Amino acid sequence: MKIAFIIGTRPEIIKMSPLIDEVEQRGIDHVLIHTGQHYDYEMSQQFFTELELKKPHYNIGVGSGAHGKQTAIMIDGIEEVILSETPDIVLVEGDTNAVLAGALVAAKLHIPVGHVEAGLRSYDKTMPEEINRMMADVCTQLYFVPTETAAINLLFEGVSPKNIFVTGNTVVDACQRNLKIARKNPELQPKIGSGEKVLTLTLHRAENVDHPERLENIINSLLILEDLTIVFPVHPRTVKNLQEFGLLEKLEKAPHIKMIKPIGYLEFLLLISESQMVMTDSGGIQEEAITINVPCITLRYNTERPETVEAGGNILVGTDQQKIVSSVRTILKDKDLHQAMKDAPNPYGDGTASKKIVNIIQDLESKGQLKIEIPGSIMGNITTKLVKVAEDLTVSEFEKKYLGQTVKIVFSGEKTEFPRVDLNLKGKIVLLSTQKAIT
Ligand code: UD1
Ligand code: UDP
Repeated sequence: MKIAFIIGTRPEIIKMSPLIDEVEQRGIDHVLIHTGQHYDYEMSQQFFTELELKKPHYNIGVGSGAHGKQTAIMIDGIEEVILSETPDIVLVEGDTNAVLAGALVAAKLHIPVGHVEAGLRSYDKTMPEEINRMMADVCTQLYFVPTETAAINLLFEGVSPKNIFVTGNTVVDACQRNLKIARKNPELQPKIGSGEKVLTLTLHRAENVDHPERLENIINSLLILEDLTIVFPVHPRTVKNLQEFGLLEKLEKAPHIKMIKPIGYLEFLLLISESQMVMTDSGGIQEEAITINVPCITLRYNTERPETVEAGGNILVGTDQQKIVSSVRTILKDKDLHQAMKDAPNPYGDGTASKKIVNIIQDLESKGQLKIEIPGSIMGNITTKLVKVAEDLTVSEFEKKYLGQTVKIVFSGEKTEFPRVDLNLKGKIVLLSTQKAIT
């Protein structure tokens, strides 16, 4: 078996790294394809070095550009590599343009796509990432979802539960492992003075930093928060826009704001673990904050990580200046709230997502189920119906007893449940799908 990994940006390198390690440890043949979307040392190479990843076998070198052109160049480059490497499965991670390009290429070549972190939805189609997630999930064969919430999103889009695997998020694997390594390295200790109240900030989302008004609101709120030390590793997109909108100087002049280049993963994990709170519009950092027990304020109006908000570790504040300032102050003042946010349970698993994903891939491959076959029989009529189950049966027992019926979605009172094989159906309403041959 050969696995192709597609990566292109900082978060993909970080979240794929535990999977690449797992595949290497098991001696599985693989090929690493970097699209080159992120190319600065700080956004790409430094993670290969510190996470001890091998040099990618291919780098498409797409660089920066408009969405259409950038995605088209990636599609062209990835297709060429996939045609020559003929992997058995292509793995993509998250929601960047690389994910869209990789999934589209593989699906059209009838190579199964495994989407790591599938099923996330903000339900905001103005985000390029939402389009990428949805399009990639149309092309996906194996959905490796972090939570049941993500699984349920997919069920309502018609995805078969048989193709959905709730694994947790590989960010927990990466975060746990690397924070441990970082804490042991005295050279990496963050340069925070004792007694300083540190807020770590990251900002790069197009809907924030490409809009001068929104960006200015955020910047003004930072300038007001003078009683904090704000450590701000600045994403290249944000530097460019701060310069263009004439906002960079304002920040540089503020002594409590420490603007730095994007830092390495180990140093970043240490920094947030020692911060009072994190303020961000990043997807991955919302997940890491709840994993490391740091309160998170998210500078967005929606999130595809609602689990973090429901768990109590994350608050959405949008980009309103007053709202940002008052939320920060409230969390700092209210010790109980601060502690409750720190104690929020992590919804993203126990750090074994990569092992689970590789187990699933190996298991399917050993059963010959990783192949996409062109149809060889006439399709049947698919009917769906809602049924209340009276019998004391789990999903797998039910499907064994009533052959040909698939439990698609389970409703338990007002709650929707993912049909795990061991879920007991007694007293629950299920959406059943049946395929009957056309006669
Ligand atoms: C991309 C992803 C986003 C992800 C983010 C992670 C898409 C549509 N967006 O956003 O989902 O959250 O990566 O950080 O895929 N630039 C550099 N050096 C680099 C890379 C970028 O200077 O190494 C600058 C360029 O001016 C470029 C801009 O940053 O135009 C934006 O880069 P791009 O890759 O298009 O999007 P990101 O904002 O990084
Ligand atoms: N990160 C890092 N150094 C930094 C800022 C972020 O290593 O200076 C890591 C962070 O820990 C997380 C990832 O980068 O794992 C998040 O990437 P980003 O915010 O760019 O993308 P998103 O997750 O929003 O797609």
